Amino acid sequence: MSTNRRKFLKQFGSTILLSSAGLSSLAAKEDMDRRILFSEKRITANDKIRIATIGMGIMGFNDTYAALTVPGVELAGVCDLYTGRLQRAKEVFGQTLFVTSDYRQILDRKDIDAVIIATSDNWHSRIAIEAMRKGKAVYSEKPMVHYISEGLAEIQAQKETKAVFQVGSQRVSSVAYQKARELYHSGAIGKINSIEASFNRQSALGAWQYTIPLDAGPQTVDWARFQEPEKVKHDYDNNRFFRWRNYREYGTGVAGDLFVHLLSGIHFITGSKGPDKIYSIGNTVFWKDGRNVPDVMSAVLEYPDTKEHPAFQVTLRVNFISGEGDRSTTKIVGSEGVIDLSGEGDGFTLYKNKMPVAPGIGGWDSLFTYPEAMQKQLMANYNKKYSATDQATPATDKILYHAPDGYNASNDHFANFMDSIRTGKPVVENAVFGFRAAAPCLACNDSYFENKVIHWDAENMRIV
Ligand SMILES: NC(=O)c1ccc[n+]([C@@H]2O[C@H](COP(=O)([O-])OP(=O)(O)OC[C@H]3O[C@@H](n4cnc5c(N)ncnc54)[C@H](O)[C@@H]3O)[C@@H](O)[C@H]2O)c1
Repeated sequence: MSTNRRKFLKQFGSTILLSSAGLSSLAAKEDMDRRILFSEKRITANDKIRIATIGMGIMGFNDTYAALTVPGVELAGVCDLYTGRLQRAKEVFGQTLFVTSDYRQILDRKDIDAVIIATSDNWHSRIAIEAMRKGKAVYSEKPMVHYISEGLAEIQAQKETKAVFQVGSQRVSSVAYQKARELYHSGAIGKINSIEASFNRQSALGAWQYTIPLDAGPQTVDWARFQEPEKVKHDYDNNRFFRWRNYREYGTGVAGDLFVHLLSGIHFITGSKGPDKIYSIGNTVFWKDGRNVPDVMSAVLEYPDTKEHPAFQVTLRVNFISGEGDRSTTKIVGSEGVIDLSGEGDGFTLYKNKMPVAPGIGGWDSLFTYPEAMQKQLMANYNKKYSATDQATPATDKILYHAPDGYNASNDHFANFMDSIRTGKPVVENAVFGFRAAAPCLACNDSYFENKVIHWDAENMRIV
């Protein structure tokens, strides 16, 4: 085992902080150890996985770096529509790297086993289906689809081709989310009733005003291909290409982009298939830069009583001009506690608060407003009915959990993907899971733009 891995395992064991409440099964840690040990097995020439990345922007680079942390993975090619990013890929990964602006050239190569799709949202589904039909394993960035109407065809393509297909919501592989799921299912917070989840940001970059390169223009960007899936074509526009998230034509707004991280984590922990009722409101409050999607958005989703969980409500919010600064949270609220998760799967705090058995009397109560003798009688009746133990509020408890410093859930998400390619074991985030997380988020957009409540059949994955 390499020294770094040894160090990591050691650190992993030492950075989990738990209470003494006996809720501290270490299954998540054991899974993680097993996974690391599995990756450490000798990789033979036949175990090599050759990947290519389609869409070499911010996430294309980050996903490629994460994929290459898995032993035995090699980068065989890169595809992008801006020449500067192909040049950069050669600078980083070697001048002999195969680069192209036509993703079909990647899909046609027999020596490529798997593709990472990290394009703008408008291309995800189309390239994923073509790649699976060409026999590639596919790691598709979130959201799985640009429109709800694309979901079932993609699921069908995966079923027909039996391709290894994983969606890129890394929270699903995070050790913190695994631990939170384990505690949730052990009953640590009682019966779930609601979840509040949000992303707050306070910067131009956080609001998607990314840097535009010096040579940006139709001579360096394949603009025609970029907007090929769109019915309405626009003249070349730097913002539409380099800041595509701000336009519904290519992106999915804060709902498809960020709510989907929140719902992926929520569905993973609760085992839910999704809500049946969705309503959202939004506004472009601050970033009035020509974008046609809101910069502040809130949604309410109703999750019905199912065999997986009791009924609960979810409120989602993104605020791109929040005085709170950058902060993301998911609070899973039950009758006896809360799991408060922060970041991209880095950690959580579990608070346990239980009610006493006795209903309570005195304090902020109507008791003191009654005649004195009656108050005494009520107190005597109460003390006779409830023992001191029944009247006592059970001790509160707090469990802290955090992943080791430098932990990266994306690396684990790629390790899981590569394990599935090598061993045939099911992926951790398949097309059905990916679509069940994406569709309610895209329905938030439909609700906002069409000003109506959306009814969703989560079992059959259809708008009702
Ligand atoms: N999992 C995460 O945490 C996470 C984080 C950020 C972004 N993402 C997802 O990753 C995707 C990319 O986001 P980004 O921030 O990297 O965007 P980006 O603009 O930095 O990069 C997108 C790249 O895709 C390329 N592209 C578009 N259509 C293409 C096509 N048909 N063929 C080849 N290349 C094409 C563009 O040229 C561009 O360089 C998005 O879908 C986003 O939702 C995921």
